[in-house]
Amino acid sequence: MFEYIGWVVLAVLTLLAVKVFKDLNSSGVTVDENIPDVLEIQDFTPKTLAKYNGTDDKRILVAVRGKVYDVSGGKKYYGPDGPYAFMAGHDASRALAKHSFGNENLTPLDEPIDTLEGLNEEEWAALNQWIEFFASKYTFCGNLVNP
Ligand code: HEM
Ligand SMILES: *[C@@H]1O[C@H](CO)[C@@H](O)[C@H](O)[C@H]1NC(C)=O
Ligand SMILES: *[C@@H]1O[C@H](CO)[C@@H](O)[C@H](O)[C@H]1NC(C)=O
Repeated sequence: MFEYIGWVVLAVLTLLAVKVFKDLNSSGVTVDENIPDVLEIQDFTPKTLAKYNGTDDKRILVAVRGKVYDVSGGKKYYGPDGPYAFMAGHDASRALAKHSFGNENLTPLDEPIDTLEGLNEEEWAALNQWIEFFASKYTFCGNLVNP
């Protein structure tokens, strides 16, 4: 009897370990066959970036400090149902710097790109870490420019 329970426990632990290992390995990146691999490197304006919010176009782009990244692989974060959906198709710089959820730190699409004036030292440090994060995890696809 106890011998049997031992085997069950061992099997469950093994399955858990395999799952954790796979999750660690994949770093949350999933491949969506509906999205063509290649997006030509190009300049985006806030308005042309906005359509890449994962709704009509399945590709999801996020801009950080003037650079646009393809975060489609992070759909569970930035997709329409994700916790960071508000960043999709937007310049997320100020929101990332300030660790804020929602729209209050997003620049309206018809306004010039946020110059990030007024961020304090701590917020710049946070933003710089995010810049490194995006650059290392995601594919760069162009610059965010004013129209
Ligand atoms: C309520 C507090 C928060 C919790 C519990 C939380 C939790 C998490 C977790 C568990 C991850 C995944 C980490 C991983 O895969 O290794 C993550 C990633 C992330 N979080 Fe948060 N977070 C919070 C607040 C925020 C805020 C305020 C922001 C920015 C405005 C933010 C932006 C991000 C971003 C950009 C990612 C990276 C997603 C990716 O891999 O592309 N988080 N967060
Ligand atoms: C880990 O990821 C690589 C590609 O990034 C993949 O080839 C490999 O099969 C993965 N290993 C596991 C155990 O999922
Ligand atoms: C995403 O962009 C489309 C236009 O391409 C727009 O109709 C839709 O409302 C946007 N979704 C969100 C959540 O902003």
